[in-house]
Amino acid sequence: MNKKHSPISRKAGVMLHGADYNPEQWLKYPEVLREDIRLMKLAGCNVMSVGIFSWVSLEPEEGVFTFEWLDGVLDSFAENGIYAILATPSGARPAWMSQKYPEVLRVERNRVHNLHGFRHNHCFTSPVSRQKTAILNAKLAERYSQHPAIIGWHISNEFGGECHCELCQDAFREWLKVKYNNSLDEVNHAWWATFWSHTYTSWSQIESPAPHGETQVHGLNLDWRRFISERTIDFCQHEINTVRPYNPELPITTNMHMIDGIDYRELAKILDVVSWDAYPDWHYTEDGDDTRLAAWTAMHYDLMRSFKKKPFLLMESTPSLTNWQSVSKLKRPGMHKLSSLQAVAHGSDSVQYFQWRKSRGSSEKFHGAVVDHSGHSETRVFQDVAEVGKTLAGMTEVVGTSTPAQTAIIFDWDNRWAIKDAQGIRNSGLRYEETVLQHYRALWELGIPVDIIGSGDDLSAYKLVVAPMLYLISEENGKRIEKYVEQGGTFLATYWSGVVNETDLCHLGGFPGPLRRTLGIWAEETEGLHSRDLNGLVMEVGNKLKLSGDYDAHEIAELIHLEGAEALGHYRNDFYAGRPALTVNRFGEGNAYHLATRVKDTSFYVELYAAITSKAGITRAMDSELPAGVTAQLRTDGESDYVFVQNFSGSPQTVELDGAEYTDLETGLSAPALLNLAVNGLAMLKRKALV
Ligand code: GLA
Ligand code: ZN
Repeated sequence: MNKKHSPISRKAGVMLHGADYNPEQWLKYPEVLREDIRLMKLAGCNVMSVGIFSWVSLEPEEGVFTFEWLDGVLDSFAENGIYAILATPSGARPAWMSQKYPEVLRVERNRVHNLHGFRHNHCFTSPVSRQKTAILNAKLAERYSQHPAIIGWHISNEFGGECHCELCQDAFREWLKVKYNNSLDEVNHAWWATFWSHTYTSWSQIESPAPHGETQVHGLNLDWRRFISERTIDFCQHEINTVRPYNPELPITTNMHMIDGIDYRELAKILDVVSWDAYPDWHYTEDGDDTRLAAWTAMHYDLMRSFKKKPFLLMESTPSLTNWQSVSKLKRPGMHKLSSLQAVAHGSDSVQYFQWRKSRGSSEKFHGAVVDHSGHSETRVFQDVAEVGKTLAGMTEVVGTSTPAQTAIIFDWDNRWAIKDAQGIRNSGLRYEETVLQHYRALWELGIPVDIIGSGDDLSAYKLVVAPMLYLISEENGKRIEKYVEQGGTFLATYWSGVVNETDLCHLGGFPGPLRRTLGIWAEETEGLHSRDLNGLVMEVGNKLKLSGDYDAHEIAELIHLEGAEALGHYRNDFYAGRPALTVNRFGEGNAYHLATRVKDTSFYVELYAAITSKAGITRAMDSELPAGVTAQLRTDGESDYVFVQNFSGSPQTVELDGAEYTDLETGLSAPALLNLAVNGLAMLKRKALV
């Protein structure tokens, strides 16, 4: 079965390797621009993202356009076999615009109207802002859409932030009218506004949340977040509309990074290809073990791939250090290649950097780049980059391959927003993302491919669906999960699930609300624990998962009653002792597990998921024991499987291969039965497809 997607750009069916490039900063240094081309080829770079933040160089005065420098850069790319992803420059605006049209500048939460400065400092509603963007974008598209070097559009840069100006307030009220059928009564009910006499009697009384105004109406906070997310996506769509008609063949993306503000699953829907900026701070632990961070990074890559279930772009990463982490460390030998190929292992068809050349001045002059201020190729970083370039050049056959995951983790933006906003059980930190990571990491350690999906997505392709802390869930999505289990799916939920509905109203009749029947339990009470409080999960003798052991648990605990489920493990301490802490409910053809407390130890999750996935008949990337900190990830075209074995443990490791015939993708030689992985080591293996 063909499991290969067509390349992101038809023009370039190869692994892309390149960087953000800002020639506009160097126009007074023509020798630097000439040298750049030579160095790009030397580094094995075949693509550059150009034009990001270059508005003032393209339109130095209102209505005066200067494209000549960009003509020169793109022509010389075309002559030298380098592709360009052309950006719309809306990520930062010129000072002339802020001065003439102050409405383009953002109003902050505290209602202070910003001055010109920084970047991403603009209102997404302002008609002037939209119009000026449209004019310049159309001019760029008209001039360059058919240019031989251009392979795609990079819309703006890392959309994010919010504006509280009057234009945005009005747009929010209009948005609410549509959502709530023009009925204030519906709004008041959805937000439970009679609480503290917050009932609105006129639309004009509704204001966005503010530190000196409203912050406690959770339904309002949630709707404001949804509105901001939609507003931003709408602005991105506006930009797409301005460039698309000039060449519909060009794929369009925007780079994602700030996971907080925008529902990226929704943003992805308007893009042709998803792209992600990854900046893990490698080597931050005392013992050199990068496992936790590697799993965290992998989880985000899987999220990006899952949006469209096809390859994405690693649009930015640093070739060495950043200039914004609290401590900026260099990548130790091996880590550049390992971390770059990690993205590819999870579905990226590119390795791109921020930035090609360090700027000479201003904020990012010390941010890692392929070319340092020394200006030549004789640096450790340049050599690391060139090595990755060489490796990627030999991986054309991997382009377009897919990852057929049988396991999914549910990760919803509105759930996240609602969990963080709620007041109660553990205001010192519920650690939602950490919890998702705990579950993800175990699957990652086992080498099990995972998709990260939304609770509204189709579940039928999965044998196992995991929903850590699904606090917000609608009745409808609860029903869908119920049906999924009934028809044979395996489901796992945790404490603090099924608590509120889509407008943040508590489910009545007992938690976990719409998941109660599926899980066969009732969670009567849930509490937060102090960091000094310890409980434990003790596995029942002879439990169905054949697990044994006694694991520490902390931070959150739920007192549950069995309503059809059976206990697989019970609480160890306190007045909880003996009460169920891990359960399974046979429901229809499927099984639904519930974990009532936060177990501390990674080994518990690894053992739990090893047992659950083997019961559910889920295959791993390879059938080998993987040492802690080593993962195997899979891509396939249906004929060949590509297995990426990666060592983030900080120590050398050995993996015994599973008996299939493997060749080393880089050397073409057959792989030894015992695979030795150095510190930060990686092996890319090829075998005949299994599935
Ligand atoms: C972000 C931005 C880039 C650059 C890098 C630095 O990802 O998109 O313009 O500022 O951070 O790490
Ligand atoms: Zn605004």
